[in-house]
Amino acid sequence: MVRIGVIGCGYWGINYIRACHELEQTKVVRVCDINDARLRIIHKRFPYVFPTSRVEDLINDPEIDAIIIATEAESHYTITKTALANGKHTLVEKPLSTNIEHAKELILLAEKSRRTLMVGHTFLYNASINKIKEYITQDSFGAIYYLHATRTHLGLIRNDVNAIWDLAPHDIAVFSYFLGTNPLWVSAVGGCFLKDTKPDVGFISLGYPNNVIGNIHVSWVNSNKVREIVVVGSKKRVVFDDLNNLESVRIYEKGAEISGDVNNYGEFQLQLRDGDIISPRIETSEPLKNQIKHFVSCLEKNTIPLSDGQSGLMVVKVLAAIERSLQKRGVPEEIPQ
Ligand SMILES: NC(=O)c1ccc[n+]([C@@H]2O[C@H](COP(=O)([O-])OP(=O)(O)OC[C@H]3O[C@@H](n4cnc5c(N)ncnc54)[C@H](O)[C@@H]3O)[C@@H](O)[C@H]2O)c1
Repeated sequence: MVRIGVIGCGYWGINYIRACHELEQTKVVRVCDINDARLRIIHKRFPYVFPTSRVEDLINDPEIDAIIIATEAESHYTITKTALANGKHTLVEKPLSTNIEHAKELILLAEKSRRTLMVGHTFLYNASINKIKEYITQDSFGAIYYLHATRTHLGLIRNDVNAIWDLAPHDIAVFSYFLGTNPLWVSAVGGCFLKDTKPDVGFISLGYPNNVIGNIHVSWVNSNKVREIVVVGSKKRVVFDDLNNLESVRIYEKGAEISGDVNNYGEFQLQLRDGDIISPRIETSEPLKNQIKHFVSCLEKNTIPLSDGQSGLMVVKVLAAIERSLQKRGVPEEIPQ
């Protein structure tokens, strides 16, 4: 049984507390939030958990093995650093930090203190996303041409980060997981419609090895709620619709590829493939619980998490490159490898 302290008991933190409570591998010992009203809500729902507004009460508690951090992005670095420095395994929400140097520092600190550092890229623990990964890595899927993600709705508007830092980490992490490689460059344009300085809309293009391209659209101002990821291959197309509980994954066995000598004008032809639409059965499981179970397994077996510090750093590097490209109205920016 891993004894957990949860820091940040807002919208997402309360889910961690519930999930850890329901899992047999974990027990929430203490929770921390600087907002007393949140602590009262938590105490009412989980009366056996000790609430505090002081991070130190968790960090210095020898009864606690691991810390989960679900505070706003700007505080991730400082709290994660304190937790690791005090010998706690740490699962921190995305993004790992708000700048590259801080992310690198946290990775080094985790290595030095021999503690597990994991980032909450929750979609990597989503059974539908895992199923898609299985499909698209089979030869029968053909070559991957491109990936496209749409993450739109009205809000939830955050004060610390913009819509891109808030929403795009999910898709950046998923694209790299699907492709098994990281983007080389990024080009992004954004719009500031609600506030003058923080984009609430973003259109992001990413370039991967082998000419694969990715595209992500995020928005806090679009009344149409969409949570969709599409992977288009030469033989098939697969669609993940996170809002469709019944058929979250659909595989369209249709595609287009060139056959013949592409250099010889008139000798090549477009091969169109038509086929079935398949909706695979996917075992129901809660991604957040899968993520916590993976965290526990990694710290018990001393193995590297799927969404480790390096994966968190990669996402932060991409977000930083997006920021640079936004400033230049879409000029492509290299992503340091
Ligand atoms: N992985 C996912 O699917 C997912 C979903 C939602 C949110 N998140 C992430 O979770 C994090 C929190 O998001 P949220 O929606 O719960 O935000 P929120 O604003 O609802 O909650 C954050 C809480 O942290 C508390 N807090 C802030 N600084 C603190 C500190 N120094 N010590 C203790 N408590 C502190 C605040 O008082 C607040 O209650 C963000 O990083 C967000 O990106 C991830």
